[in-house]
Amino acid sequence: MPKARKLIILLRLPMKKRVALIFGVTGQDGSYLTELLLKKGYFVHGMIRRASTFNTARVNHLFQEIHKKGRKFFMYYGDLADAGTIRKIIYKVKPHEIYNLAAQSHVKVSFEIPEYTMDITGNGALRILEAIRDFQLETGRKVKFYQASSSEMFGVSKPPQNENTPFIPQSPYGAAKVFACNMTKLYRDAYGLFAVNGILFNHESPRRGETFVTRKITRGIARIKAGLDKKLYLGNLDAKRDWGYAPEFCEAMWLMLQQPKPDDYVIGTGETHTVKEFVELSFKEAGLGNWKKYVEIDPQYYRPAEVNILIADTKKARRVLKWKPKTKFKDLVKIMVWDDINNLKK
Ligand code: NAP
Ligand code: GDD
Repeated sequence: MPKARKLIILLRLPMKKRVALIFGVTGQDGSYLTELLLKKGYFVHGMIRRASTFNTARVNHLFQEIHKKGRKFFMYYGDLADAGTIRKIIYKVKPHEIYNLAAQSHVKVSFEIPEYTMDITGNGALRILEAIRDFQLETGRKVKFYQASSSEMFGVSKPPQNENTPFIPQSPYGAAKVFACNMTKLYRDAYGLFAVNGILFNHESPRRGETFVTRKITRGIARIKAGLDKKLYLGNLDAKRDWGYAPEFCEAMWLMLQQPKPDDYVIGTGETHTVKEFVELSFKEAGLGNWKKYVEIDPQYYRPAEVNILIADTKKARRVLKWKPKTKFKDLVKIMVWDDINNLKK
């Protein structure tokens, strides 16, 4: 058969049904990853927490009516503290790919609730890994696992940081992520699981939680511009972060699970900026002039220990995954500032 005809027939064949399960589906990254996977034709299942108020704002636009034929997005109640439910969901959904994006993800808060942070951010990953191990053994099916590891694990290690840089965490959150990262590697080495760590540097978007510094700044600016607030209270302005754009980072997560072999990858932009630079540029972008008129330092936002500088060395991801960031720092600031200003107007 001629090559071209063979290709046409192949393209017409229905795509193999791909099923993904996302822990942390309602978070910033969970929502972008769900969009990406649905676009790629996946059936996407997500675990959500029961809350007394709605916690699905970031995925509401993706909801599909329960009785709709051909539905591709499904939700289940559960919690990373609850191994039984994690197991039940995995056995029910039979996923090809599992993404663990769930965590108590706030560094400052982790100093206030260290034990809870370890239980969810650290042990939560172990609960999923154990469930996958049993599921694979009992059903003979293969599952690929992505663990949301973090540049916070590097702590005070000298930048630029890559896959071989030692972890010297500076927070209960960082220490819990190191535990989860090590467990992911161990299950790969000891049991042959297809388990990978995406070591992601800070990534932001209009869907970023309101208490992380970038969103706190852009939301604060929108409120000042609208006359609702007079001041913005911040902590350490000298810390340096490698800030990228979240949707692009979610593409890298997916790419890691499409490789022939499981491995760990650092994802970031390779550029670093101080919190002060983010503040300065954001106020300028909003047309508010000198930020010093509006920003006050409040020591309650200082941390007992700080990660002073993060810069990603992403050579491996660029070479193997063919991934590279597109959105520049100043464009990220622009996207976030105007989204908050326009939303408040609405
Ligand atoms: P996020 O917006 O804070 O989302 C965290 C998700 O975890 C939410 O869906 C949250 O549910 C869920 N969650 C929290 N506690 C849980 C529990 N006990 N059981 C089940 N689910 C729980 O975080 P993100 O920015 O999307 O980040 C995604 C992951 O990447 C996190 O693990 C984070 O630590 C890690 N990470 C993030 C960055 C970054 O710069 N964004 C960088 C490196 C690594 P609710 O919506 O109900 O709260
Ligand atoms: N949150 C916050 N609020 N941070 C402030 C403030 C403030 O008012 N003022 C200054 N900062 C400084 C913090 O001290 C820190 O040095 C920096 O801003 C960034 O803080 P966050 O935005 O809270 O992010 P993070 O770097 O601590 O943690 C984020 O990135 C990690 C990856 O490196 C989170 O998304 C983690 O989940 C993620 O793993």
